[in-house]
Amino acid sequence: MHSLKFNMSNLLQEIQKRKTFGIISHPDAGKTTLTEKLLLFGGAIQEAGAVKSNKIKKGATSDFMEIERQRGISVATSVLAFEYKDHKINILDTPGHKDFAEDTYRTLTAVDSVIVVIDVAKGVEEQTEKLVKVCRMRNIPMLVFINKLDREGKDAFDLLDEVEQKLGLHVTPLSWPIGMGAEFQGIYNIWENNIQLFLEDKKQKVGEAIKIEDVNDPKIDELVGEKAANALREEIELTTSVYPEFDREAYMKGDLQPVFFGSALNNFGVRELLDAFIEIAPMPQPKESDKRIVEPEEEKFSGFVFKIHANMDPKHRDRLAFVKIVSGTFKRNENYLLVRENKKMKFASPNAFFADKKEIVDESFPGDIVGLHDTGNFRIGDTLTAGEVMSFRGIPSFSPEHFRFINNDDPLKAKQLAKGIDQLMDEGVAQLFTMEMNGRKIIGTVGALQYEVIQYRLEHEYGAKCSYEPINIYKACWVEADEKSDEFKEFARLRQRFLARDKYDQLVFLADSSFTITMNQEKFPNIKLHFISEFRNED
Ligand code: G4P
Repeated sequence: MHSLKFNMSNLLQEIQKRKTFGIISHPDAGKTTLTEKLLLFGGAIQEAGAVKSNKIKKGATSDFMEIERQRGISVATSVLAFEYKDHKINILDTPGHKDFAEDTYRTLTAVDSVIVVIDVAKGVEEQTEKLVKVCRMRNIPMLVFINKLDREGKDAFDLLDEVEQKLGLHVTPLSWPIGMGAEFQGIYNIWENNIQLFLEDKKQKVGEAIKIEDVNDPKIDELVGEKAANALREEIELTTSVYPEFDREAYMKGDLQPVFFGSALNNFGVRELLDAFIEIAPMPQPKESDKRIVEPEEEKFSGFVFKIHANMDPKHRDRLAFVKIVSGTFKRNENYLLVRENKKMKFASPNAFFADKKEIVDESFPGDIVGLHDTGNFRIGDTLTAGEVMSFRGIPSFSPEHFRFINNDDPLKAKQLAKGIDQLMDEGVAQLFTMEMNGRKIIGTVGALQYEVIQYRLEHEYGAKCSYEPINIYKACWVEADEKSDEFKEFARLRQRFLARDKYDQLVFLADSSFTITMNQEKFPNIKLHFISEFRNED
C-alpha cells in the first residue's frame, strides 16, 4: 500500500513537471532559431548551430539526397527535450514546409500547447494561418512570439490587429518593444515588470533584466532616453485600454493568446518567453477516448501513435512509432495492448528523446514521447493501453490537395507494391483511396513532393516500381449519410464513378469541382460531405 501511494505522488510530480508543446510558423519566421535558443537555455546544447533545420531546400523536388537528408533530420528533431527550472520540456517538431502540413496537423494532436512564431516584417503568413486554424479547432492554448525585432517591421499595434483579424485570435501583449529595427532598444516586460536592453555588441549574450517599478519609473528615461521612454509610456497606456488583462483560464481554453516580442537570432526576449511559458503553459492534459475521458494521473498506462518514421536504412524495414503518453507510467518490457489489433506487445528498447540524442528508457510519464521500434504493426492514430479496450479520438485526416492514379509498373512485384503502399500510408506519407467501381487505387497528397518520395521509397525499400496517371479531382469529401436511405441509394447510383473508400473503409466522394459539391448538397441535402475525417481506430 505504502509503495503504491509513493508511486502515485511520484507520478503526479512527474506530470506536473512536464510541458509538451509545438512551435508553429510559416517557413523562415524563425522556428529553428527559437528552438535552438530554448535548448541553449535548458543547457541541452552548448552552442548555436546544433539544431539542424528541417527545411526542404529550394529545388529539392527531384533531389532524393535532399529528401533523405530531410528524413534523417526529421527523425533527429522529432522530439527535443530539455530541463529548465525543474520542468521537463518536450518540443515536438512540426515541419514548416506546406507539403508536410499533414504531419504537422497530426503532431498537433500530441501537444498540450503551442507557440506561434511570426516575423515582424512579414506579419501573418499563409502557413501560420492554416496551422493556427487547426489549433483553434482544438482549443489549444497558444502563445505568440513576434520575432526579428532587430529588423524594420510593422508597427506593433498594426501587427496585433493583423494577428487578431487573420488568425482569429484574441491577444494581450505581455511584453512590448521599445523601438524597432535600427531604433530597437529593448523589451519592456509587462509580465515581470522589467526592462531588457538590446545591446548590439552583446549579441548572442543574455543580459540581466533591469527591474523597474512600473512604466513610470524614471529609470526607464535613463536607460533608453526620454523620447523612447515617453513613447513607451503612451503605448503601454494604449495597450491597457485596448487589450484585456491576461487571464490564465481564458488562455487555457484557447480564448486568449498572450504575445511576446523579441529576436530569436539575438537571443532577445526568449528568456522572458520561456519563463512565462513554464509558468502558464498547461501540463499534460486529459484526453478523450471513445469510452471516456482519460486523466494523466490514472495509474494505468495509455497512449497513442501520432507519427511513424521508417528506418533510414532500407535493408531494415523496422520503423519508429512515436507514442504520446496520455496516462500512467509507461514501462520497458511490460505487456501492453495494441487495441486495434487486440494484440499484446512489449517493448525491450523504448527510446526517450533528448536535445540531440535518443536513449533507451525504463520509464516514461504522461506528456512524454516514447519511440517504439515496430516491424509494421502500428498505424497512425493507434491506441496502446495497459489492457483497457478504448481508442483515443482526434487524429484527423484532411482532404488532400493532389490526386493521382497509381499503377504497378512491374507485374511480378505486385505484392511488394501493395505492401509498400500499405506501409507508407500507415506512416501517413499520403492517403490511399480505392475506387468503388473498379478497385483502382488513387494516392492523395498535400504536396506534389510526396509523389516523388513515394515512388523513390517504393523502389528503394520495397523493390517495387510504380507510375502515376493524372486524374481530375478537386477534393475528397468524407460522406456522412444513412446508407439505407433512398436518398443515399440514389446518390450512390448517380455518383458511383466518384465514390471510393479510404484506408479505413470510410466512404469518400471524390468531387471534381467545388461546383459539384454545391450541386450535390442541393440535390442530396441529407448527405453530408466533410473535408476532414478522423482516422477510425477500429477496423
Ligand atoms: P524557420 O525554422 O522558421 O524556417 O526559420 P529559421 O529559424 O531557419 O530562420 C530563418 C532565417 O531567419 C534565418 O536566416 C535566421 O537566421 C533568421 N532569423 C531568425 N531569427 C531572427 C531574428 O531575430 N532576427 C533576424 N534578423 N533574423 C532572424 P537565413 O539567412 O535564412 O539562414 P541562416 O543561413 O542564417 O541559417
